[in-house]
Amino acid sequence: MTTPASQDDRPVYDAYVAGRLSAGLAAGVRAGLFDALDAEPRTAEALAEATGTHPRGLRAWLTAMRAGGLVERDADGRWSLPAAVAASAVRGREGSLAGLIDLEVDEFLSPERVLEGLRTGGPCVYDASDPWAEHAADPAKARAFTEAMHAISVRPAAAMAAVAPLEVARSLLDPGGGSGALSLALATRFEQLSCTILEIPAVVPLANEFAADAGLGERVRAVEGSLFADAWPGPHDAVLLSQILHDWSDEEAVRLVARARGALAPGGRLLIHEKLVDDDGAGPLANALVNLDMLVWTEGRQWTPRDLTELLEAGGFGQVEVVPTFGYWSLVSAVRVD
Ligand SMILES: C[S@@+](CC[C@H](N)C(=O)[O-])C[C@H]1O[C@@H](n2cnc3c(N)ncnc32)[C@H](O)[C@@H]1O
Repeated sequence: MTTPASQDDRPVYDAYVAGRLSAGLAAGVRAGLFDALDAEPRTAEALAEATGTHPRGLRAWLTAMRAGGLVERDADGRWSLPAAVAASAVRGREGSLAGLIDLEVDEFLSPERVLEGLRTGGPCVYDASDPWAEHAADPAKARAFTEAMHAISVRPAAAMAAVAPLEVARSLLDPGGGSGALSLALATRFEQLSCTILEIPAVVPLANEFAADAGLGERVRAVEGSLFADAWPGPHDAVLLSQILHDWSDEEAVRLVARARGALAPGGRLLIHEKLVDDDGAGPLANALVNLDMLVWTEGRQWTPRDLTELLEAGGFGQVEVVPTFGYWSLVSAVRVD
Protein backbone atom coordinates (compact mmCIF):
# COMPACT_ATOMS: atom_id res chain seq x y z
CA MET A 1 0.00 0.00 0.00
CA THR A 2 1.34 3.50 -0.78
CA THR A 3 1.79 5.75 2.20
CA PRO A 4 0.39 9.27 1.89
CA ALA A 5 3.91 10.70 2.15
CA SER A 6 5.00 8.86 -1.00
CA GLN A 7 2.41 10.72 -3.06
CA ASP A 8 3.51 14.04 -4.52
CA ASP A 9 0.82 16.56 -3.55
CA ARG A 10 2.05 19.20 -5.96
CA PRO A 11 -0.35 18.61 -8.89
CA VAL A 12 -3.25 19.29 -6.55
CA TYR A 13 -1.48 21.92 -4.45
CA ASP A 14 -0.35 23.81 -7.56
CA ALA A 15 -3.93 23.83 -8.88
CA TYR A 16 -5.15 24.97 -5.46
CA VAL A 17 -2.83 28.00 -5.38
CA ALA A 18 -3.10 28.86 -9.11
CA GLY A 19 -6.09 31.15 -8.48
CA ARG A 20 -3.84 33.41 -6.36
CA LEU A 21 -1.70 34.23 -9.37
CA SER A 22 -4.80 35.12 -11.37
CA ALA A 23 -6.18 37.22 -8.49
CA GLY A 24 -2.84 38.99 -8.04
CA LEU A 25 -2.61 39.70 -11.75
CA ALA A 26 -6.11 41.22 -11.88
CA ALA A 27 -5.55 43.29 -8.73
CA GLY A 28 -2.22 44.53 -10.12
CA VAL A 29 -3.86 45.63 -13.35
CA ARG A 30 -6.68 47.40 -11.49
CA ALA A 31 -4.25 49.10 -9.08
CA GLY A 32 -2.12 50.35 -11.98
CA LEU A 33 0.98 48.48 -10.80
CA PHE A 34 1.89 47.12 -14.23
CA ASP A 35 1.37 50.55 -15.80
CA ALA A 36 3.60 52.21 -13.18
CA LEU A 37 6.34 49.60 -13.57
CA ASP A 38 6.17 49.98 -17.34
CA ALA A 39 6.59 53.75 -17.07
CA GLU A 40 9.87 53.25 -15.20
CA PRO A 41 11.58 50.63 -13.01
CA ARG A 42 11.05 51.58 -9.37
CA THR A 43 11.90 50.51 -5.87
CA ALA A 44 9.02 49.08 -3.85
CA GLU A 45 8.80 52.36 -1.89
CA ALA A 46 8.61 54.46 -5.03
CA LEU A 47 6.05 52.09 -6.54
CA ALA A 48 3.89 52.28 -3.40
CA GLU A 49 4.02 56.05 -3.51
CA ALA A 50 3.26 56.27 -7.23
CA THR A 51 0.26 53.93 -7.02
CA GLY A 52 -1.12 54.74 -3.57
CA THR A 53 -0.71 51.12 -2.49
CA HIS A 54 0.19 50.00 1.03
CA PRO A 55 3.84 48.99 1.53
CA ARG A 56 2.91 45.71 3.22
CA GLY A 57 0.37 44.82 0.55
CA LEU A 58 2.81 45.74 -2.17
CA ARG A 59 5.59 43.60 -0.67
CA ALA A 60 3.31 40.57 -0.64
CA TRP A 61 2.19 41.29 -4.19
CA LEU A 62 5.71 41.81 -5.56
CA THR A 63 6.98 38.59 -3.97
CA ALA A 64 4.08 36.56 -5.32
CA MET A 65 4.19 38.09 -8.81
CA ARG A 66 7.94 37.71 -9.07
CA ALA A 67 7.68 33.98 -8.42
CA GLY A 68 4.95 33.89 -11.06
CA GLY A 69 7.28 35.48 -13.62
CA LEU A 70 5.20 38.64 -13.87
CA VAL A 71 7.67 41.14 -12.36
CA GLU A 72 11.47 41.24 -12.04
CA ARG A 73 13.87 42.83 -9.54
CA ASP A 74 17.38 44.01 -10.37
CA ALA A 75 20.45 43.95 -8.13
CA ASP A 76 19.66 47.51 -6.91
CA GLY A 77 16.21 46.45 -5.72
CA ARG A 78 14.35 48.17 -8.56
CA TRP A 79 11.30 46.38 -9.91
CA SER A 80 10.37 46.17 -13.61
CA LEU A 81 8.39 44.08 -16.10
CA PRO A 82 9.60 41.37 -18.48
CA ALA A 83 8.92 42.58 -22.05
CA ALA A 84 6.22 39.93 -22.69
CA VAL A 85 4.40 40.98 -19.51
CA ALA A 86 4.56 44.65 -20.44
CA ALA A 87 3.08 43.85 -23.87
CA SER A 88 0.05 42.10 -22.40
CA ALA A 89 -0.61 43.56 -18.92
CA VAL A 90 -0.09 47.30 -19.49
CA ARG A 91 -3.08 49.38 -20.51
CA GLY A 92 -3.07 51.07 -23.86
CA ARG A 93 -0.61 48.72 -25.55
CA GLU A 94 -1.97 47.40 -28.87
CA GLY A 95 -3.41 43.95 -28.11
CA SER A 96 -2.94 44.28 -24.35
CA LEU A 97 -5.07 41.94 -22.25
CA ALA A 98 -5.36 44.52 -19.44
CA GLY A 99 -9.02 45.35 -20.20
CA LEU A 100 -9.94 41.67 -20.13
CA ILE A 101 -7.94 40.98 -16.97
CA ASP A 102 -9.44 44.03 -15.26
CA LEU A 103 -12.94 42.52 -15.68
CA GLU A 104 -11.81 39.70 -13.38
CA VAL A 105 -11.88 42.07 -10.41
CA ASP A 106 -15.66 42.33 -10.77
CA GLU A 107 -16.45 39.04 -12.51
CA PHE A 108 -13.99 36.54 -11.06
CA LEU A 109 -14.61 32.92 -11.99
CA SER A 110 -15.02 31.90 -8.37
CA PRO A 111 -15.38 28.32 -7.09
CA GLU A 112 -18.89 29.34 -6.05
CA ARG A 113 -19.76 30.17 -9.66
CA VAL A 114 -18.26 26.96 -11.01
CA LEU A 115 -20.18 25.04 -8.36
CA GLU A 116 -23.39 26.73 -9.40
CA GLY A 117 -22.61 25.84 -13.02
CA LEU A 118 -21.97 22.25 -11.98
CA ARG A 119 -25.29 22.10 -10.21
CA THR A 120 -27.43 23.95 -12.73
CA GLY A 121 -25.53 23.37 -15.97
CA GLY A 122 -26.39 26.88 -16.97
CA PRO A 123 -24.92 30.33 -17.08
CA CYS A 124 -24.98 32.10 -13.72
CA VAL A 125 -23.00 35.31 -14.26
CA TYR A 126 -25.29 38.36 -14.14
CA ASP A 127 -27.71 36.31 -12.04
CA ALA A 128 -28.48 33.67 -14.63
CA SER A 129 -29.86 36.07 -17.21
CA ASP A 130 -28.55 36.08 -20.77
CA PRO A 131 -25.32 38.14 -20.67
CA TRP A 132 -26.07 39.59 -24.12
CA ALA A 133 -29.49 40.77 -22.89
CA GLU A 134 -27.66 42.45 -19.99
CA HIS A 135 -25.38 44.18 -22.48
CA ALA A 136 -28.36 45.27 -24.55
CA ALA A 137 -29.87 46.85 -21.44
CA ASP A 138 -26.67 48.36 -20.05
CA PRO A 139 -24.44 50.24 -22.51
CA ALA A 140 -21.63 50.50 -19.91
CA LYS A 141 -21.46 46.70 -19.60
CA ALA A 142 -21.62 46.33 -23.38
CA ARG A 143 -18.71 48.77 -23.75
CA ALA A 144 -16.58 47.13 -21.06
CA PHE A 145 -17.15 43.69 -22.55
CA THR A 146 -16.62 44.80 -26.16
CA GLU A 147 -13.38 46.59 -25.27
CA ALA A 148 -12.18 43.51 -23.38
CA MET A 149 -13.05 41.28 -26.34
CA HIS A 150 -11.22 43.69 -28.63
CA ALA A 151 -8.15 43.35 -26.44
CA ILE A 152 -8.26 39.56 -26.62
CA SER A 153 -8.90 39.50 -30.34
CA VAL A 154 -6.62 42.14 -31.82
CA ARG A 155 -3.36 40.13 -31.92
CA PRO A 156 -4.92 36.81 -32.95
CA ALA A 157 -6.89 38.79 -35.54
CA ALA A 158 -3.71 39.90 -37.27
CA ALA A 159 -2.36 36.34 -37.25
CA MET A 160 -5.67 34.99 -38.54
CA ALA A 161 -5.76 37.56 -41.35
CA ALA A 162 -2.23 36.56 -42.37
CA VAL A 163 -3.39 33.02 -43.23
CA ALA A 164 -7.05 33.61 -44.18
CA PRO A 165 -7.66 32.42 -47.76
CA LEU A 166 -9.64 35.47 -48.87
CA GLU A 167 -7.56 36.62 -51.85
CA VAL A 168 -10.60 36.83 -54.13
CA ALA A 169 -13.36 37.56 -51.60
CA ARG A 170 -14.99 40.97 -51.95
CA SER A 171 -17.58 40.83 -49.18
CA LEU A 172 -17.56 39.25 -45.75
CA LEU A 173 -20.27 39.02 -43.09
CA ASP A 174 -19.08 39.03 -39.46
CA PRO A 175 -22.08 38.04 -37.29
CA GLY A 176 -21.47 38.87 -33.61
CA GLY A 177 -18.32 40.68 -34.74
CA GLY A 178 -18.09 42.71 -31.52
CA SER A 179 -15.56 45.52 -31.85
CA GLY A 180 -14.79 44.34 -35.38
CA ALA A 181 -11.23 43.40 -34.47
CA LEU A 182 -11.28 40.48 -36.90
CA SER A 183 -12.96 42.37 -39.74
CA LEU A 184 -10.51 45.24 -39.32
CA ALA A 185 -7.53 42.89 -39.56
CA LEU A 186 -8.99 41.23 -42.66
CA ALA A 187 -9.81 44.56 -44.30
CA THR A 188 -6.27 45.73 -43.57
CA ARG A 189 -4.75 42.70 -45.27
CA PHE A 190 -7.24 42.42 -48.17
CA GLU A 191 -7.77 45.80 -49.81
CA GLN A 192 -10.58 44.50 -52.05
CA LEU A 193 -12.61 43.27 -49.05
CA SER A 194 -15.63 44.98 -47.44
CA CYS A 195 -16.91 43.65 -44.13
CA THR A 196 -20.34 43.91 -42.51
CA ILE A 197 -20.53 43.32 -38.77
CA LEU A 198 -23.92 42.12 -37.57
CA GLU A 199 -24.40 43.10 -33.92
CA ILE A 200 -26.86 43.91 -31.16
CA PRO A 201 -27.86 47.61 -31.09
CA ALA A 202 -25.71 48.37 -28.00
CA VAL A 203 -22.53 47.25 -29.80
CA VAL A 204 -23.14 48.72 -33.29
CA PRO A 205 -21.93 52.27 -32.45
CA LEU A 206 -18.87 50.87 -30.65
CA ALA A 207 -17.88 48.76 -33.66
CA ASN A 208 -18.35 51.74 -35.96
CA GLU A 209 -16.12 53.80 -33.63
CA PHE A 210 -13.37 51.18 -33.83
CA ALA A 211 -13.66 51.11 -37.65
CA ALA A 212 -13.50 54.92 -37.89
CA ASP A 213 -10.51 55.04 -35.52
CA ALA A 214 -8.73 52.49 -37.72
CA GLY A 215 -9.46 54.62 -40.81
CA LEU A 216 -11.49 51.74 -42.26
CA GLY A 217 -15.00 53.17 -41.85
CA GLU A 218 -15.57 52.92 -45.62
CA ARG A 219 -15.00 49.18 -45.81
CA VAL A 220 -15.94 47.94 -42.33
CA ARG A 221 -19.33 48.86 -41.00
CA ALA A 222 -21.58 47.51 -38.31
CA VAL A 223 -25.32 47.08 -38.73
CA GLU A 224 -28.02 45.99 -36.33
CA GLY A 225 -29.07 42.40 -36.74
CA SER A 226 -29.49 39.19 -34.83
CA LEU A 227 -27.60 35.93 -34.89
CA PHE A 228 -31.02 34.36 -34.48
CA ALA A 229 -32.76 36.02 -37.40
CA ASP A 230 -34.22 33.44 -39.79
CA ALA A 231 -31.73 34.57 -42.40
CA TRP A 232 -28.62 36.73 -42.33
CA PRO A 233 -28.05 39.35 -45.03
CA GLY A 234 -26.29 38.02 -48.10
CA PRO A 235 -25.03 36.62 -50.36
CA HIS A 236 -21.42 37.17 -49.29
CA ASP A 237 -18.18 35.61 -50.48
CA ALA A 238 -17.23 34.79 -46.89
CA VAL A 239 -18.75 34.54 -43.44
CA LEU A 240 -16.65 34.75 -40.29
CA LEU A 241 -17.71 33.32 -36.93
CA SER A 242 -15.13 34.37 -34.37
CA GLN A 243 -15.82 33.12 -30.85
CA ILE A 244 -19.49 32.73 -31.71
CA LEU A 245 -20.00 28.98 -31.88
CA HIS A 246 -18.48 28.58 -28.40
CA ASP A 247 -21.20 30.81 -26.92
CA TRP A 248 -24.14 28.63 -27.87
CA SER A 249 -25.47 25.11 -27.44
CA ASP A 250 -24.54 22.40 -29.93
CA GLU A 251 -28.10 22.52 -31.31
CA GLU A 252 -27.83 26.29 -31.85
CA ALA A 253 -24.40 25.80 -33.46
CA VAL A 254 -26.10 23.64 -36.14
CA ARG A 255 -28.52 26.48 -36.83
CA LEU A 256 -25.74 29.11 -36.88
CA VAL A 257 -23.82 27.07 -39.46
CA ALA A 258 -27.02 26.74 -41.53
CA ARG A 259 -27.51 30.54 -41.41
CA ALA A 260 -23.88 31.05 -42.39
CA ARG A 261 -24.41 28.73 -45.36
CA GLY A 262 -27.54 30.65 -46.34
CA ALA A 263 -25.62 33.95 -46.26
CA LEU A 264 -22.88 32.62 -48.56
CA ALA A 265 -22.75 32.64 -52.33
CA PRO A 266 -22.17 29.17 -53.88
CA GLY A 267 -18.53 28.26 -53.30
CA GLY A 268 -18.31 30.86 -50.52
CA ARG A 269 -16.05 30.34 -47.55
CA LEU A 270 -16.90 30.00 -43.87
CA LEU A 271 -14.14 30.97 -41.42
CA ILE A 272 -14.33 29.92 -37.80
CA HIS A 273 -11.92 31.49 -35.31
CA GLU A 274 -11.75 29.77 -31.94
CA LYS A 275 -9.46 28.48 -29.22
CA LEU A 276 -9.75 24.76 -29.85
CA VAL A 277 -9.33 21.85 -27.48
CA ASP A 278 -7.45 18.84 -28.88
CA ASP A 279 -9.58 16.00 -30.25
CA ASP A 280 -8.72 13.82 -27.26
CA GLY A 281 -9.84 16.62 -24.92
CA ALA A 282 -6.52 16.55 -23.06
CA GLY A 283 -5.42 20.12 -23.70
CA PRO A 284 -4.07 22.65 -24.18
CA LEU A 285 -4.84 23.55 -20.56
CA ALA A 286 -5.56 27.23 -21.30
CA ASN A 287 -8.22 26.31 -23.88
CA ALA A 288 -9.69 23.47 -21.85
CA LEU A 289 -10.08 25.82 -18.85
CA VAL A 290 -12.13 28.22 -20.98
CA ASN A 291 -14.85 25.57 -20.80
CA LEU A 292 -15.45 26.78 -17.23
CA ASP A 293 -15.90 30.36 -18.42
CA MET A 294 -18.27 29.14 -21.10
CA LEU A 295 -20.19 27.17 -18.46
CA VAL A 296 -20.83 30.18 -16.24
CA TRP A 297 -21.16 32.85 -18.95
CA THR A 298 -22.83 31.11 -21.88
CA GLU A 299 -24.61 28.07 -23.24
CA GLY A 300 -21.51 26.92 -25.10
CA ARG A 301 -18.20 25.11 -24.89
CA GLN A 302 -14.78 25.09 -26.53
CA TRP A 303 -14.82 23.05 -29.74
CA THR A 304 -12.39 20.39 -30.98
CA PRO A 305 -11.20 20.17 -34.62
CA ARG A 306 -13.03 16.84 -35.04
CA ASP A 307 -16.36 18.11 -33.68
CA LEU A 308 -16.14 21.25 -35.80
CA THR A 309 -15.32 19.23 -38.91
CA GLU A 310 -18.35 17.01 -38.31
CA LEU A 311 -20.55 20.06 -37.69
CA LEU A 312 -19.40 21.71 -40.91
CA GLU A 313 -19.61 18.62 -43.11
CA ALA A 314 -23.10 17.85 -41.82
CA GLY A 315 -24.01 21.48 -42.53
CA GLY A 316 -23.11 21.41 -46.21
CA PHE A 317 -19.46 22.44 -46.15
CA GLY A 318 -16.35 20.71 -47.49
CA GLN A 319 -12.59 21.23 -47.74
CA VAL A 320 -12.40 21.77 -43.98
CA GLU A 321 -8.94 22.93 -42.91
CA VAL A 322 -7.69 23.70 -39.41
CA VAL A 323 -4.73 26.07 -39.16
CA PRO A 324 -3.14 27.07 -35.82
CA THR A 325 -2.55 30.83 -35.97
CA PHE A 326 -1.32 32.60 -32.82
CA GLY A 327 -0.95 31.55 -29.21
CA TYR A 328 -3.86 29.29 -28.42
CA TRP A 329 -5.89 30.24 -31.49
CA SER A 330 -6.86 28.41 -34.67
CA LEU A 331 -8.62 29.26 -37.91
CA VAL A 332 -10.97 26.68 -39.37
CA SER A 333 -11.88 27.25 -42.98
CA ALA A 334 -14.52 25.46 -45.06
CA VAL A 335 -16.14 25.91 -48.46
CA ARG A 336 -19.86 25.82 -49.17
CA VAL A 337 -20.67 22.69 -51.15
CA ASP A 338 -23.57 22.82 -53.65
C1 LIG B 1 -17.67 36.33 -27.67
S1 LIG B 1 -18.09 37.84 -28.45
C2 LIG B 1 -17.17 37.69 -29.98
C3 LIG B 1 -16.80 39.03 -30.58
C4 LIG B 1 -15.92 38.95 -31.84
N1 LIG B 1 -16.48 38.07 -32.85
C5 LIG B 1 -14.49 38.54 -31.48
O1 LIG B 1 -14.10 37.41 -31.73
O2 LIG B 1 -13.77 39.40 -30.93
C6 LIG B 1 -19.76 37.50 -28.95
C7 LIG B 1 -20.43 38.66 -29.65
O3 LIG B 1 -21.74 38.23 -30.08
C8 LIG B 1 -22.62 39.33 -29.95
N2 LIG B 1 -24.01 38.83 -29.86
C9 LIG B 1 -24.57 38.16 -28.82
N3 LIG B 1 -25.86 37.88 -29.12
C10 LIG B 1 -26.09 38.38 -30.35
C11 LIG B 1 -27.24 38.40 -31.20
N4 LIG B 1 -28.38 37.86 -30.82
N5 LIG B 1 -27.11 38.99 -32.41
C12 LIG B 1 -25.94 39.56 -32.79
N6 LIG B 1 -24.82 39.56 -32.04
C13 LIG B 1 -24.90 38.98 -30.82
C14 LIG B 1 -22.16 40.01 -28.67
O4 LIG B 1 -22.61 41.36 -28.59
C15 LIG B 1 -20.64 39.87 -28.76
O5 LIG B 1 -20.05 41.00 -29.37
